[in-house]
Amino acid sequence: MTVQRRTAGFNFLEEPELPAPQVSGAQAEDILVAHFGIRAHAKSLGSQQDKNFLVRDDADQVLGVLKIANPAFNATELGAQDEAADIIAAAEPALRIAVPLPNLNGEKCTAITGLLDTTAYVRLLRFLPGGTLLQSGYLSPATVAAMGDLAGRVSRALASFSHPGLDRILQWDLAYGHDVVTALIAHVGDPSRRNRLEAAAHDAWSRIARLADRLPRQAIHLDLTDANVVVSRSAGGALRPDGVIDFGDLTDSWAVSELAITLSSVLQHPGTDPASILPGVRAFHAIRPLSDAEAEALWPMLVLRTAVLIVSGAQQAAIDPDNDYITEQSDGEWRMFEQATSVPVDVMTAVIKDSIGLAAPAADVGSVSALVPGLAADEVVTLDLSTTSDVFDTGFVPGGWLSPDLEDECARAAIQDGAVLVVTRFGQPRLTQAPPLAQHCPAVVPTGVSLWAAEPVGLVAPWGGKVIARSHDAIALRGNDFELTLTGVDPTADPGALRPGAGLAGVTPGRRAELSLRPVGAPPAPPLVAADLAPGWLAVTRDPRPLLGLPSLGVERAEDLMARRDRTFAPVQEHYYRRPPQIERGWRHFLMSTAGRCYLDMVNNVTVLGHAHPRIADTAARQLRKLNTNSRFNYAAVVEFSERLAALLPEPLDTVFLVNSGSEASDLALRLAMAATNRRDVVAMREAYHGWTYATDAVSTSTADNPNALATRPDWVHTVESPNSFRGKYRGADVGSYADDAVRQIDELVAGGRAPAAFICETVYGNAGGMALPDGYLERIYAVVRSNGGLAVADEVQVGYGRLGEWFWGFEQQHVVPDIVSMAKSTGNGYPLGAVITSRTIADAFSSQGYFFSSTGGSPLSCAIGITVLDVLRDEGLQANAARVGAHLKARLEALRDKHPIVGTVHGKGLYLGVEMVRDATTLEPAPDETSAICDRMLELGVIIQPTGDHQNILKTKPPLCIDVEAADYYVDALDRVLTEGW
Ligand SMILES: Cc1ncc(COP(=O)(O)O)c(C=O)c1O
Repeated sequence: MTVQRRTAGFNFLEEPELPAPQVSGAQAEDILVAHFGIRAHAKSLGSQQDKNFLVRDDADQVLGVLKIANPAFNATELGAQDEAADIIAAAEPALRIAVPLPNLNGEKCTAITGLLDTTAYVRLLRFLPGGTLLQSGYLSPATVAAMGDLAGRVSRALASFSHPGLDRILQWDLAYGHDVVTALIAHVGDPSRRNRLEAAAHDAWSRIARLADRLPRQAIHLDLTDANVVVSRSAGGALRPDGVIDFGDLTDSWAVSELAITLSSVLQHPGTDPASILPGVRAFHAIRPLSDAEAEALWPMLVLRTAVLIVSGAQQAAIDPDNDYITEQSDGEWRMFEQATSVPVDVMTAVIKDSIGLAAPAADVGSVSALVPGLAADEVVTLDLSTTSDVFDTGFVPGGWLSPDLEDECARAAIQDGAVLVVTRFGQPRLTQAPPLAQHCPAVVPTGVSLWAAEPVGLVAPWGGKVIARSHDAIALRGNDFELTLTGVDPTADPGALRPGAGLAGVTPGRRAELSLRPVGAPPAPPLVAADLAPGWLAVTRDPRPLLGLPSLGVERAEDLMARRDRTFAPVQEHYYRRPPQIERGWRHFLMSTAGRCYLDMVNNVTVLGHAHPRIADTAARQLRKLNTNSRFNYAAVVEFSERLAALLPEPLDTVFLVNSGSEASDLALRLAMAATNRRDVVAMREAYHGWTYATDAVSTSTADNPNALATRPDWVHTVESPNSFRGKYRGADVGSYADDAVRQIDELVAGGRAPAAFICETVYGNAGGMALPDGYLERIYAVVRSNGGLAVADEVQVGYGRLGEWFWGFEQQHVVPDIVSMAKSTGNGYPLGAVITSRTIADAFSSQGYFFSSTGGSPLSCAIGITVLDVLRDEGLQANAARVGAHLKARLEALRDKHPIVGTVHGKGLYLGVEMVRDATTLEPAPDETSAICDRMLELGVIIQPTGDHQNILKTKPPLCIDVEAADYYVDALDRVLTEGW
């Protein structure tokens, strides 16, 4: 071992005890005066082996960090560190580097005698503001990627740096990691922890040693961890690690250990798991490509690093029992070790290689005897259990969720249809295994196949080998290359040698058997694994289907659907999330991805009844088999639906137009008003959205939808202030002034000869997250508009249809009756269906414009669906559910406001709520970046939620009306967790 090597610099193995030098604040202040000419305050900072002081002047301005090096380090070593800092600063100008500042003599390093037993080397380092990532709680994938990027840049900058001061043996150098663990393990008190540490370090070291010859070496920082990278924060608090401090561990070692050390520190943060490092690996690889050997060494080095940290911490605690910094760290370090050893090294290495495109194709099983002799391929049915499978009938009852039992049911059905054998797919995420409310990526990817037989089937040995394990229902056969494990079977072979074709086990009809296959020596895989680690587990297992004479179907890779989408679908049609999951199924208030993850859908206000409602599906299927044509024909559905809609509205709103969308409905509403009044001017509310057609776009001024909205209005559109009682011009007791101002504006329009045809607005202010309009607002505006011959148009596209709980329509909350009401979204539960309802007089006036016709508006299919939506709303009591669950949800969200200052307020009623995020409770500065990042983290925790509002700082909380209290609680708990841990 290299340990015996003589070094010019420090040798940890000869001097393992390294307590930090004892220097007081007063001494530090004296040094500052004597050597730097600075009169300042020195406050001691935590450090394991040096002594550091934060230096501040009288005005509390930070001047730098005074670092008194541990006397074990010599001037050559410190010189190398200073030079490395300068090299990185020059190579990467975008990075901030803690370079040493000159003393009164212009030197970077000050040698002081009389302070310690030997010469003390003191430097005043540039202070990098922003703080480190140590206290940051959750680290987002973007932050982890930025850490990998930073490590890559440092590594690239130092690649050709050489210096005699790099010749040292440090306890953090993973080249000595195993020696360090061996030397210090005795300091770990708990024997079981000791054993685990030793075993993990030993295994990691044996893997690293095998690769050592192929691992390039260079100068490395050796400590680019969450504690030593300094962050810049955007106004929204997003963290960008861009500063490097503490070059004290600079040495010459394996280049890849830089990355292993950086990424190990990610694992002590809340909400992380081993897969959390992958963005960092990818980012490092993009800057400084990893070789195959380096990718293989990475995880063993990370494991070894965590073991070194624990034994070193235990040793320091023994030497320096009063050092709180050390004790504080130990829990986090143990958590890192637990995470690092929670996945077999081979698996994690395969995951890492897969993530950077270095995965090698798995070796084939080769030619074998058939496991089921005489079975013809066409007697076997492959059961598709994926998200896109057509075999599931989930029903719609609460709790009627897909379950593993359904797998048996589906298999039985296939057998009834004539299958001799039913087999599942290897590596295919199974929706049947996905729990509906889960904060973690669930284990849904099978590492083997399940098998059901119509008749008793005898399985025989596919190769000669040895039965290595047998129980009453399981047997394992090891051959030269592969090991086959069967469970849920009746073993027939005894332990010991078995020739190919000899009986192995029987499969009983009605009982599920599991087959799994892995190369000899590979770690045994759990039957189901999480999707994020699946590439690793599937690399150490094999598809058993070829043993049944079936072709291996391979593992479907998630295709880059977004890239395909971008090629043909106009990009101006935005999508949720930067990297959205592929959603291909819904059920009630859940959405399911092709990766077998189930998300709580808090954003789909269109699907009021819930996703995939069977009554809607049945109605659509039945109607499509009978008739679908246009409303110029005479059929009952259009009459019945119109009657049902009109009955929902007060007098005189009795006449119905049917269209296909909210835009069409509100557009038609405006045209009706213009025709009935013979005018063209329209008054609209600012910061609203009414649709994309020419007229509805003209009256839409939400800058979230169109940043230039206000500046580009046609001359017939006049806007009034948005009556935002939380952050608008008038608040509290003054909110009545919004109506005063609007009335004045309308009077002025009239006086100027531009009396409006209509005033249009949402009856509950949707763009502000479902905020109620000020009391009496619509009463006053409708009155002034009408007294001047105009009409009142209510856009109920979002807020109507029972979502508000207490009221079916938003205008009820304002105690008014509009002249024209537009509706859509909920009207068809996602099927394109909109309506306009007005009085007979107004409808008749439209005939001056010719006749009105929409090819599919009011079709038999649309009407049948519209009727069923109304039936289900009534039968399932969804408006009452919106009131009940909405009240509970709002109360719980409001309680979060007391706990987390970022929650400014909670708007809304029923199941139209908005959680408004602010940076400051007094200024109400909106928190859009934070809201966006919170939404990303909520997705990780299984919740789909999106920002809304002109400032994009409101969590638009408007789930399907079938949501229950359990799901509402899940949403609030997840939000609480994100606001507590970070985003
Ligand atoms: C209040 C309001 N009106 C009209 C529309 C337009 O509806 P659609 O998208 O169906 O055209 C929307 C859509 O978001 C809306 O929120």
